[in-house]
Amino acid sequence: MKESDQGAAVGGEAFDLASTGLEEAAAKAAAIFVSIYRGLEERPVAPPTNRAALRAMIAGTVVDEGVGLVQALEDFEQWVLPGSMGTPHPLYLGLVNSSPLPGAALGDLLISSLNNNGGAFHQSPAMTTCEEELVHAFARLFGMTAADGMFLPGGTFATLQAIVLARVQATGGPAQSGLRLYTSEAAHFSVARAAMVAGVAAEGVVSIPVSGRGVMNVSALEQRIRCDREEGAAPFAVVATAGTTATGALDPLADIAALCREEKIWLHVDACYGGAAMLLEPMRARFAGIEQADSIAIDPHKWFFIPVTAALLLTVHRDVAQRAFATTAGSYIPTDGELDAWQRGIPTTRRSSGLAVWMALRAHGWRTIRAAVKSNIELTRLLEALLAERGFRVLEGGELSIACARWEPRDRTADAIDRLQDAIARDVISSGKAWFSTTRHAGCTWLRFNMLNLYTREGHVRRLADLLATTASRAATQAP
Ligand SMILES: Cc1ncc(COP(=O)(O)O)c(C=O)c1O
Repeated sequence: MKESDQGAAVGGEAFDLASTGLEEAAAKAAAIFVSIYRGLEERPVAPPTNRAALRAMIAGTVVDEGVGLVQALEDFEQWVLPGSMGTPHPLYLGLVNSSPLPGAALGDLLISSLNNNGGAFHQSPAMTTCEEELVHAFARLFGMTAADGMFLPGGTFATLQAIVLARVQATGGPAQSGLRLYTSEAAHFSVARAAMVAGVAAEGVVSIPVSGRGVMNVSALEQRIRCDREEGAAPFAVVATAGTTATGALDPLADIAALCREEKIWLHVDACYGGAAMLLEPMRARFAGIEQADSIAIDPHKWFFIPVTAALLLTVHRDVAQRAFATTAGSYIPTDGELDAWQRGIPTTRRSSGLAVWMALRAHGWRTIRAAVKSNIELTRLLEALLAERGFRVLEGGELSIACARWEPRDRTADAIDRLQDAIARDVISSGKAWFSTTRHAGCTWLRFNMLNLYTREGHVRRLADLLATTASRAATQAP
């Protein structure tokens, strides 16, 4: 008798792994996995469905008696897959979400299967070691060779943890009144949200004006810091952006770093979107100064083609992290004297999401990511040129993989032209042929195309430009 067969009298109805049909289910799951990747263009980019229909279909599916693994996978194929966004589709040019590398997707399955808690080394020995290796590799990439770091569940959390560190550095611990954090008008909203969670009052988050595509005005920053000091406030952090969400603008990091050094203020760089461009030698000069930051938030789950969620916080202040999160509680967690992630960051239990990044890099190498980033930038510039040729106004100065454009017929009010951009986006999206969004920049609505895509090729971009031109002419004749 096997150990698992014993003791039926105690413990009741035990989960029986032997009769779960694991092999059959794994084969079916593998077939679905392969069909998702092989059939990238067979499904529409955006699912042709709506919320009410989905709710009606899924209602009542969570039941006492499970249906078994194979049936659950069939249900997934029938209910979930057709209602899923085609994020890996070559013409998904959306919300800073990327097409994931298959190695990372497989890594996710293995992470979940082993379920090692990445909060402590002894609960995830090999996975924590892979993560350490990645921290060193990313630290080298960003020129911050002495940095410590950890994976967190999103750039928002990475920036939150950084702001807590900056606060602890400034105050020795808790939030105080008068704290001031500076970021640009074009920064991601997660910066203000993280500051709020970290205890900074609303008036303590100072929005610095931008110029051009959304680049922080460093003279305005300098003036504002000095003014605030004179008024008795306590400037403690600047969050600069290396790749803004709306337009892909790069703040002048070297100037901001010099100012922060002079003013003894923590510099955090939000490189969540743009950071991957550091892989391209010709782009590195545009990030000069990033290596002087106190902390950097990077999202491998954006332009490094890792599935959500995998964000990385790098910081040169391991001592501050230790002080910020030191606790005498947690005596139930064994320690070998080396500081574990739960002792130098916000999370306790942590998904070992670094392993997905490690698997992707092990399988496909930096080279694959670098080539895709380069191609995305080139194809984005091509899209801009094609749209300009077809009569769109294109936002100038693009450097990363975001293109912004507007269709501006004459004799329309500014509001009508803004509405027209939304109408064009809606029309194209409902065709299922492409997905992109609109954004507000410089007081106007723009079509926004963000390419973080392993599979987009020149033919797709040309097809999109033609589709946009036809849709724009049609929408312009229909819209009031
Ligand atoms: C520039 C930038 N920073 C931060 C974030 C927030 O990151 P996350 O969505 O990983 O929390 C985003 C999200 O799009 C972003 O574009």
